[in-house]
Amino acid sequence: MAIITTLLAIASLPLADLASAERVLGAYIFQRHGDRTPKSLPPAKLTDLGYNQEYMTGNFFHNRYISASSQNHIDGISSSEVNLAQISASAPQDTVIQISGQAFLQGLYPPIGSAANETLRNGSTIYSPLSGYQLIPLSDVKSGTDSEDNTWLQSTSDCSNAEVSSNDYYYSSSYKELLASTSSLYESVASNLNGTVSSSGLSFKNAFTIWDLLNVASIHNASANIPSDEVMHELLVLANNQQFNLAYNSSEPIRSVAGMTLAGEVLSALNQTITSGGKSKLNIQFGAYATFLAYFGLAGLTDNVDFTGMPVYGSSMTWELVTNAPGTGIPAVSEINVRFLFHNGTSIEGTTELQAYPLFGQSATEIPWTQFVDSTKKFAITSQSQWCQACGNSTGICSSSSGSSSTASTSSSDSSSNGMSLAVAGVIGAMVTLGVFAGLTALLLLVFNLRLVRKTTLASLGRGSQASLTPVTSKV
Ligand SMILES: *[C@@H]1O[C@H](CO)[C@@H](O)[C@H](O)[C@H]1NC(C)=O
Ligand SMILES: *[C@@H]1O[C@H](CO)[C@@H](O)[C@H](O)[C@H]1NC(C)=O
Ligand SMILES: *[C@@H]1O[C@H](CO)[C@@H](O)[C@H](O)[C@H]1NC(C)=O
Ligand SMILES: *[C@@H]1O[C@H](CO)[C@@H](O)[C@H](O)[C@H]1NC(C)=O
Ligand SMILES: *[C@@H]1O[C@H](CO)[C@@H](O)[C@H](O)[C@H]1NC(C)=O
Ligand SMILES: *[C@@H]1O[C@H](CO)[C@@H](O)[C@H](O)[C@H]1NC(C)=O
Ligand SMILES: *[C@@H]1O[C@H](CO)[C@@H](O)[C@H](O)[C@H]1NC(C)=O
Ligand SMILES: *[C@@H]1O[C@H](CO)[C@@H](O)[C@H](O)[C@H]1NC(C)=O
Repeated sequence: MAIITTLLAIASLPLADLASAERVLGAYIFQRHGDRTPKSLPPAKLTDLGYNQEYMTGNFFHNRYISASSQNHIDGISSSEVNLAQISASAPQDTVIQISGQAFLQGLYPPIGSAANETLRNGSTIYSPLSGYQLIPLSDVKSGTDSEDNTWLQSTSDCSNAEVSSNDYYYSSSYKELLASTSSLYESVASNLNGTVSSSGLSFKNAFTIWDLLNVASIHNASANIPSDEVMHELLVLANNQQFNLAYNSSEPIRSVAGMTLAGEVLSALNQTITSGGKSKLNIQFGAYATFLAYFGLAGLTDNVDFTGMPVYGSSMTWELVTNAPGTGIPAVSEINVRFLFHNGTSIEGTTELQAYPLFGQSATEIPWTQFVDSTKKFAITSQSQWCQACGNSTGICSSSSGSSSTASTSSSDSSSNGMSLAVAGVIGAMVTLGVFAGLTALLLLVFNLRLVRKTTLASLGRGSQASLTPVTSKV
């Protein structure tokens, strides 16, 4: 606790110092969805509580970046009526995440009432529906489809090498030790789960699913029998350990492909703000906790052990382009800095706000743009051909680019793939075979309308079987 407080205090110092002189030129927000129903009872749905969390967080960012009276107002951004050239929002094909995005955007640019009236040539006035509700398009993010119905998020990355690496976690000594040492703990919560998880599924293997079910029940279900706070905390720590290890391993960077891709997107969007002379200003991407964990690992934040825990619903991380150069518009690149901020949960102005944290194991919470670019490029994936090569994928979207990329992008992918391609060759064959079995299993499950696969298939499939733990239905 003391460490956290000290860190927060240190982190907030430069903020206060600079607030007066500085201008925010642009920002990129990565936003977790709001409260939802449990993943293991698909389809997961955003709850009203979650809708509120996202709306409030969107409103917090309105007050920070959009409102003309804010100190952190983005230079030149439209302050009431949205200018769609200035803002981009994206989300994967996932109901919970898409709807969270819409809720957030409602708070970001609230309805403007009669200011949205439009007068036609013939003189009649058109009133905008829902009191001047503002429409902001959400574009598609390629990976992450059906994230909130998948307990193994890596399967939604669509990245072959990342799936292989993440699956290897289940063969690590760290996993095996915890599986053995926690068996009685998981058996002890059987009655709390009231049959939702079969007795053979009560183990560390399902650490996330079990914690998620109990966490949702502890928020929503007045008749549920929730374990003590101590046990709930233990279950959370274990789920955090499992999920962090599935999302990040310092020896196998490709496991964090979600973070690598996000880093590339942040780089490209902020660069676009600079090179377009400030035409584009604010980017928001909605997603799942595993992308936070992957980025935290890659960006050197996890020396602070808090960053190895899943961020709670409604959490935000944001990268701000800032300058102390006076005037308006985009100054020389040498005068532009980047600041990373994070808030664990729903942001509400004045109470629970963003805190700045230093990236890349440095001590400053603000670093020059060029340094941010160099450090980010060490792990960012910035093009599709680089992605295809790092992932070892050569079919689908990778079939056309793979031929040319192998020659064209060799140098750029060297740094990010770190020899992962070695792992590809051998394992892909096995994965393809297992994929066929997983596909068949999924089909059978679909046909017989079975819900949870867990231990039966896990036991019979062996290596690679974690993929079938997650509903494979969307992929069939
Ligand atoms: C917009 O339309 C409403 C509804 O009639 C009207 O009361 C209001 O004066 C109009 N506002 C503007 C700015 O045109
Ligand atoms: C003006 O044009 C709109 C749209 O075509 C139409 O709905 C409306 O009836 C017209 N009003 C008048 C007074 O002609
Ligand atoms: C990459 O390969 C994996 C494993 O073969 C597959 O599941 C995934 O769909 C592929 N991704 C793309 C984008 O083709
Ligand atoms: C991390 O990767 C290394 C090298 O591949 C492996 O030996 C280790 O078991 C992995 N650890 C986890 C927790 O996945
Ligand atoms: C447990 O579930 C069963 C059937 O799903 C239900 O009848 C029973 O009331 C539940 N137990 C409790 C304590 O709610
Ligand atoms: C609430 O918990 C009880 C007891 O475990 C369970 O029977 C019931 O299905 C739960 N209700 C919901 C909506 O999950
Ligand atoms: C920024 O964009 C410019 C113009 O498109 C490009 O030349 C440059 O390489 C980009 N820089 C980064 C870091 O992406
Ligand atoms: C966010 O909160 C969760 C739940 O308390 C915790 O496990 C995680 O470590 C926290 N993350 C950070 C960066 O503080």
